[in-house]
Amino acid sequence: MQEKVVQLLQQRPRRNRQSPAIRSLVQETRLHPSNFIAPLFVIEGVSMAQPVPSMPGVERLSIDLLLKEAEELLELGVGAIDLFPVIAKDAKDRCGSEALRKGNLIERAVSALKRAFPELCLMVDIALDPYTDHGHDGLVDDEGHILNDETLPILGKMAEAAAAAGADFVAPSDMMDGRVSYIRQCLDQEGHTQVGILSYAVKYASSLYAPFRDALHSGPKFGDKKTYQMNPANRREALREISLDEHEGADMLLIKPALPYLDILSKARELTHLPLGAYHVSGEYAMIMAAAQQGWLDGDRVLAETLLSIKRAGADFIFTYGAKRIAALMRTGCDF
Ligand code: PBG
Repeated sequence: MQEKVVQLLQQRPRRNRQSPAIRSLVQETRLHPSNFIAPLFVIEGVSMAQPVPSMPGVERLSIDLLLKEAEELLELGVGAIDLFPVIAKDAKDRCGSEALRKGNLIERAVSALKRAFPELCLMVDIALDPYTDHGHDGLVDDEGHILNDETLPILGKMAEAAAAAGADFVAPSDMMDGRVSYIRQCLDQEGHTQVGILSYAVKYASSLYAPFRDALHSGPKFGDKKTYQMNPANRREALREISLDEHEGADMLLIKPALPYLDILSKARELTHLPLGAYHVSGEYAMIMAAAQQGWLDGDRVLAETLLSIKRAGADFIFTYGAKRIAALMRTGCDF
């Protein structure tokens, strides 16, 4: 039996941690399914669900199954999704012309989803990399330079097509200069004044996108993306990108990846009054799931803790491949 010892302590922070009710009362940050945006990969076909090996739990879905997935997400309280098309190799070319073909996969997916679930916040990624045979986000000249101004009209047309099909938001992820104001102008001219722009304002040239590129077969065939995506070493440059996109008319801003860039997120939170989010990207998700598959950690808990830290650092919303599993866990009363 331990003898009772009492010290005269002025402060006892543990008092506020002594029961679930007290801990809950003083909890500063809470995850909620309505803060999640689920990125989804859509493929051609019927009843197709292709697992992505480097992203356990993630599948490429044909439109019919995409509708089911959206319904389940909505039922769990996740009201926003972001769509990425998986384009067949033989439909890719140098200038990504499939992106502008009337009736392409993304257009059909958007209109089917909007028809079935008008209440869904439907976002469409805007960039050329799923469509180009070289895998870059913009047009490329003969010397392999990624062309900025020549790419803008294509992004503008992609945004118009997404809006006409029923997208609520377009999400340019290409990192070309000036694309937010260019897209805004295109949307307005076509009468889509209510369609918003969620700008990937701060997107780093990260090695954490590899599983996503597996999912879309979209890895760059030459060079890298360092002339348009940002240098991971830079912080002030991120703040410049944030204020530029804000002034160009973005409605929401995104930082990407998330966990290695929480300092940027927290600084950006002080700088802008716009809604701000972070993308917990494919590689970040894959690292957690791989360790979980080994039995080395509890994947769901680590994922939830990670998402919580992203929110604590300043994110209003989070793109996460774990949207459904974490929302389902919360439904069972699990409290993060
Ligand atoms: C492409 C795009 C990428 C991601 C989102 N949009 C990859 C890239 O820039 O190469 C990455 C998302 C993820 O890794 O989860 N414009």
